[in-house]
Amino acid sequence: MATIGITGAAGQLGQEFAFLSQYLPKYNFIFFDSEELDITDKNQLIKELEDYDIDFLVNCAAYTKVDQAESESDLAFKTNRDGAANLAEYCDDNDIILIHFSSDYVYHNGLNRPLKEQDEVNPQGVYAASKLAGEQEVLKRCKKSLIFRTSWVYSSFGSNFVKKILNASGTQTEFNMVYDQIGCPTYARDLANQVLNIIDGIVVNEYQIKECSGVYNITNSGVTSWYDFSRQVFQLSGKQCSINPILSSAFSSPAVRPHYSVLDQSKLKEQFGIVMPHWLDSLAKCIKALNDI
Ligand SMILES: NC(=O)c1ccc[n+]([C@@H]2O[C@H](COP(=O)([O-])OP(=O)(O)OC[C@H]3O[C@@H](n4cnc5c(N)ncnc54)[C@H](OP(=O)(O)O)[C@@H]3O)[C@@H](O)[C@H]2O)c1
Repeated sequence: MATIGITGAAGQLGQEFAFLSQYLPKYNFIFFDSEELDITDKNQLIKELEDYDIDFLVNCAAYTKVDQAESESDLAFKTNRDGAANLAEYCDDNDIILIHFSSDYVYHNGLNRPLKEQDEVNPQGVYAASKLAGEQEVLKRCKKSLIFRTSWVYSSFGSNFVKKILNASGTQTEFNMVYDQIGCPTYARDLANQVLNIIDGIVVNEYQIKECSGVYNITNSGVTSWYDFSRQVFQLSGKQCSINPILSSAFSSPAVRPHYSVLDQSKLKEQFGIVMPHWLDSLAKCIKALNDI
């Protein structure tokens, strides 16, 4: 039985892996939250992981506070670059396949067509730069690794945009949302599910890790703006809220976001045959999951 370790297990993506694991008795899952395994502490990491015969290590641990990162650069790099490097070294030394997540923000290259993995990267802001540095560490240190660049992640678990605006709608009925940032939301359950499908494919030798290691874009399919996305969140939840479309220039935030950040997923389709569900269908599933809690 293959063993799958999950770091950052208490985050939104980590919790989706935990949710899905209950339907996958064929794997032995081991979950580590940030207290049990701090990825920035190499000694603790080795001590925690060496008790298990891990085949796949899925790193959901990250520093994800995009705006706060501007004033916490050391912590962002320590977690997203150095933590990723620690895991990559450990996995390479122990013949473990490392699965790591990165961000659409690494591109930020001004192109106005779906972005491909080989396109120029031009991270702006500390979080984006720290995520790119983490990718580079993984690629440099771990031969058997898969890096998934994703965007606008939300879930019924943890903290995210969807839950924040739904919570705020309890006391607020009018919202300003930017309509000049275009991208695609990603339901963390779909992301976790497809990563597990890829793990399945590796376990049954459908894919050879030596041939498929590398960087992949993965988001839900389709395209939207934050304005349209939030309209659908309220509509699907049956909330009556008024949303004003605003320009990014009217909304000041410490970290700058890309205006166009749609990810081309043809590499994912060619390599693994994966076509992600449309974002609107996935949002409806998440809203239902939230209502069921
Ligand atoms: N959220 C998005 O919109 C988005 C978009 C693109 C890419 N991504 C990427 O997707 C991945 C998953 O993100 P997510 O949304 O699930 O993030 P999340 O909900 O913020 O979860 C991150 C988890 O990492 C843990 N963590 C932080 N520092 C750690 C450390 N030193 N050692 C171990 N664990 C640590 C956090 O624990 P504590 O809370 O205890 O610190 C938290 O449980 C990340 O790589 C992220 O960069 C996310």
